[in-house]
Amino acid sequence: MPTGLRALDLGTSCAQQHKVGKVKVLKVDAIREDFPPLQRYEWPPAYPCETFSPELDAFLQLPAAEQRAQLVAKRRDPERHGAFVNDALGAIYGYVYGYHDSPLYLRTDDTLEGLLLRAKVELERELLDFLRPEPAPDGLSLEEGCAYLRAFVAENPGVTHTLFDFLRDRAHRSAFKEFLRLEVMRNEVVDDEVAFLVIGLQGSMKKVATSNLWDECGNGRLDRFHTYWLRRLLNHTMDWDGIRDYRKDSAPWFCRITSNSFNRVLTRPGYKYQAYGHFLVTEGWVLPHFERIVAGLRRIELHDPDVEVYFTAHINIDPHHTAEMLAGMQNQQPALGKPEVAEIIRGAHAAVAAGIKMFDRTERYLSRMA
Ligand SMILES: [Fe+2]
Ligand SMILES: [Fe+2]
Repeated sequence: MPTGLRALDLGTSCAQQHKVGKVKVLKVDAIREDFPPLQRYEWPPAYPCETFSPELDAFLQLPAAEQRAQLVAKRRDPERHGAFVNDALGAIYGYVYGYHDSPLYLRTDDTLEGLLLRAKVELERELLDFLRPEPAPDGLSLEEGCAYLRAFVAENPGVTHTLFDFLRDRAHRSAFKEFLRLEVMRNEVVDDEVAFLVIGLQGSMKKVATSNLWDECGNGRLDRFHTYWLRRLLNHTMDWDGIRDYRKDSAPWFCRITSNSFNRVLTRPGYKYQAYGHFLVTEGWVLPHFERIVAGLRRIELHDPDVEVYFTAHINIDPHHTAEMLAGMQNQQPALGKPEVAEIIRGAHAAVAAGIKMFDRTERYLSRMA
């Protein structure tokens, strides 16, 4: 283990905050001194990219009606259709977040950006058709909606999905390593996603979303950013270049389904309550999923703290986040009305639909690996 990491595990970093009057603020010195070793890597782990794919480029040039017709025609071949819609949206969300692997990193292009945003709307409509979430029950009061969601978050087909039994009991080491790459890609920008979730909320719901963001960002310590735990995982498995190549050349399209589904609702102002419901579901199934992942890591003897920390820490944190989010909506003032409650449930249903589609395909894919 590199010495820097040993120091990190022993918790040698000093406190990052102090009190000014009655308010806690970051210590300016602590910002200067907070440089854990793996922070030197660019994040997310991806190569810079000069262009969009030729297929997306061609799609961007089409009028909206032709884009729609082309997407409908692609449905005849579900693999090609799923790959195009999800890869294209993945590239467009990279642009929306302004990451270094976007062709528009530190650059603007009025014409191209207009085309990207128009295509985004068409592709997001198509993604919804691909997901086909269960309709939300209409007319639930806040009380009824909270009871519905509490039960739904605890028990939906995503919670008990057999992918995680497979990982616990049977996945070979190579399949598990592949799964870890998919997990890194799925979770690598969750702090930015939660930052989007904060926008447009107020009151209790903003409070819990902001608290979640602060947790994602390590409560002020870089080595406790949740993405820093992913850096440790990559570092331990010596996979920094591997994941960049994998993303460029061979990552299966379906590993983007839940991120795309979440970003579909996060990046459209009209879906802000759906985004809240979507996140509630994915926080809710972390514990039952990650417990099985950790058991699988131990079975294949890949249970170093650097590999496990992302999973074990979330097993403790995320049940609390789930409870916070339920309390946040329940106690929101002014109280949420029936339309807002229905929207949160719609988002929750979309998350389950996306999860099932991704877990089914991932299980089939990993089962075929030696
Ligand atoms: Fe997290
Ligand atoms: Fe969380």
